[in-house]
Amino acid sequence: MSLLEVKNLNIHFKSDRSKEPIHAVRDLSFSLKQGEMLGVVGESGSGKSITNLALMGILADSAIVKADVAKLNGVDLLSLKEKEWQKIRGQEISMIFQDPMTALNPFLSVQFQMVETIQTHLGLSKKDAIDKAVELLGLVGIPSPKDRLKAYPFELSGGMAQRVMIAMAISTNPKLLIADEPTTALDVTIQKQILNLIKMLQEKNNMSVILVTHDLGVVSEYSERLQVMYAGEIVESGKTTDLITHPRHPYTHALLASRPGALVDNLKRMPKTPLPSISGIVPAFHQRPIGCQFNPRCEFVTPECQRSPIAIEVMEPKHREFRCIHPIQSGVIS
Ligand SMILES: Nc1ncnc2c1ncn2[C@@H]1O[C@H](COP(=O)(O)OP(=O)(O)OP(=O)(O)O)[C@@H](O)[C@H]1O
Ligand code: SF4
Ligand SMILES: [Mg+2]
Repeated sequence: MSLLEVKNLNIHFKSDRSKEPIHAVRDLSFSLKQGEMLGVVGESGSGKSITNLALMGILADSAIVKADVAKLNGVDLLSLKEKEWQKIRGQEISMIFQDPMTALNPFLSVQFQMVETIQTHLGLSKKDAIDKAVELLGLVGIPSPKDRLKAYPFELSGGMAQRVMIAMAISTNPKLLIADEPTTALDVTIQKQILNLIKMLQEKNNMSVILVTHDLGVVSEYSERLQVMYAGEIVESGKTTDLITHPRHPYTHALLASRPGALVDNLKRMPKTPLPSISGIVPAFHQRPIGCQFNPRCEFVTPECQRSPIAIEVMEPKHREFRCIHPIQSGVIS
């Protein structure tokens, strides 16, 4: 059974740019099994973070979030009241934010914030909660964790604050961890350590993970399934190895093909570098092209692609999906 089930999630933003709210995320459908890791990639501005913030119930007030289904463990997320959310956040679903300062209160010590979270969700005594906090800070690679517990977030470097936030996010053993570029601002050794820690928790606690990253090497190494987002839509999804070795959507193909020295049929040799640049830019949500969202940048575009929205095609048995009327056939890039 799926832990997370999302069907036709749509996010609009009220804006003074137009009378009608701006349609940002469009008809997003995906599910996540217990213990599974889903990688999400896509250029900046494709709607990865706002989707995650919607699933955490913490999008800006200007957002209108609707879905046919948005259930975590059978609970309808979109009907929750703030009081009910407080129970779910932390305990059931936790998030590592792109910007650590979003999650940390700069005026409260690390100890106060961590111990309170651990006590609230795990029901431990203060002493046990402190021990647990020290252990977690050590796990995320913070030197002298006992001393760091007394620090205030503003006294920490960006990398240290990010690690504290990661420790807080995993402290409650959530069923679902959303890791939104969890290792930005961290050096390569720590990045690897954090990703291995998330993987270990995924396996040990049967935790589900949504891993958003700009690094195709990271998703190829850590996530079983991959979702490619473009301009607020899923354009391709399926088993990571299938997508990387045989991309069907021209956008996935372009992401992979433009990697310097990409050898996509040999994952181990895939260089770990950020998403490469493709000429052109992701359209702003208020300036969408007609038809396929990728058409102004697509080398395979035909007039048919510019007429009306492109439906997603689902291919069984592996549940491969792509949103393209001229999908790449051979797919193997060398
Ligand atoms: N509160 C808001 N009001 C209006 N538009 C918003 C709001 N928040 C986000 N957006 C729009 O949504 C777009 C997508 O944002 P999002 O942060 O989800 O992108 P992303 O895929 O996470 O990008 P990145 O890789 O840079 O983190 C933004 O570029 C912005 O145009
Ligand atoms: S539908 Fe057309 S424009 Fe869009 S990705 Fe496919 S070929 Fe390119
Ligand atoms: Mg983001």
